[in-house]
Amino acid sequence: MRAAAFTSLTGPDGVELIEQADPDPGDGEAVVDVEACSINRHDLWILEGDSAMVNEGVLPFVTGLDVAGTVRETGAGASVSEGDRVLLCPNQTCGECRYCREGPENLCQSFMLYHGGLAEQALVDGSRLIPLPDDLSAQTAACLPTAYLTAWHMYRKADLTAGDRVFVPGATGGVGVAAVQLADVLGLEAVGTTTSETKAERLRELGCPHVVVSGDTDEIVREVRSIGEMDGALNHLAGEFTAVAAKVLRRGAKQVVCGRTAGSRVDTAAAPFFLQHQEIVGSTMGTQPELERLVDLAASGAFEPVVGGTYDLDATGEAFRDMAERDAFGKLVVEP
Ligand SMILES: NC(=O)c1ccc[n+]([C@@H]2O[C@H](COP(=O)([O-])OP(=O)(O)OC[C@H]3O[C@@H](n4cnc5c(N)ncnc54)[C@H](OP(=O)(O)O)[C@@H]3O)[C@@H](O)[C@H]2O)c1
Ligand SMILES: [Zn+2]
Repeated sequence: MRAAAFTSLTGPDGVELIEQADPDPGDGEAVVDVEACSINRHDLWILEGDSAMVNEGVLPFVTGLDVAGTVRETGAGASVSEGDRVLLCPNQTCGECRYCREGPENLCQSFMLYHGGLAEQALVDGSRLIPLPDDLSAQTAACLPTAYLTAWHMYRKADLTAGDRVFVPGATGGVGVAAVQLADVLGLEAVGTTTSETKAERLRELGCPHVVVSGDTDEIVREVRSIGEMDGALNHLAGEFTAVAAKVLRRGAKQVVCGRTAGSRVDTAAAPFFLQHQEIVGSTMGTQPELERLVDLAASGAFEPVVGGTYDLDATGEAFRDMAERDAFGKLVVEP
């Protein structure tokens, strides 16, 4: 089978099509014919050599977390059958640690993510496969596991209620668009930012109630304050956007941080955290039952995941180039 592998960790030019042996499922495993696999900034960091998880010593490396397709073959005892349409929950947990036993599972002390979906076939743990309803395409479903699941879990941690206003800096990528759409599902009023007028227009078309077009943090603070106080923030950018969020949040509000696109530190003044009782809360991914819920919501039409571009397997490098150049809106999906 063919796979789009990282053969050097030097950016989008490091993606090459390679031939690999077809996978053979062991006990409890399944082989999925991959129809769609969306990419994430997590993969781009690996490709740019900016991930602690993958180094030159393990190349070629096939990434790809968000797999949707059809079961091709199963090992003994697998909970799915040949021909089932499925979506993979990329969570990998030990099932035994205190955090797995108490839940939620994404707290697992050995928490890892599946990699291997950017290929014609993916070998996966059958118990991580979620049945896909007929009215949800593989392309649409492949958007959900990382970006939408992460945003959904962040909303749970942000303690927001219908009618609240949520600040979403960087509202045009995978997690950002998911945060805007899920805000609507939850009855929240999203305030999104982008540096691009073109992407701002797409946000408005999507129904985002407030769109701030700027990359200047002082200007963003001014414009957001003119809309009103924010009851929470979903912050996947970190860096200087942590201080921006602190400046626009109301007393007692939480900003939930899941990423580091704008910087790996969360440097910000301490005062809002004691004088105004604000909180910074960290979050990673979500649980498989939460992903099942998102599949149901998407299938029922509560929201339609935004596919910003589709690519053949041999154009996977282009998908990463579009992401790196910020030339993307929503999720980028590779269709092997
Ligand atoms: N912890 C977790 O479980 C988890 C899960 C998913 C994602 N994440 C993290 O969340 C972040 C977003 O991931 P993603 O896949 O959604 O990425 P993405 O699709 O590439 O995000 C693009 C968005 O980021 C903005 N952006 C890009 N570079 C920026 C910069 N240097 N400064 C400010 N804004 C910038 C873009 O703004 P413009 O519109 O202005 O171009 C756009 O809104 C990443 O840090 C990722 O690692 C974490
Ligand atoms: Zn565990």
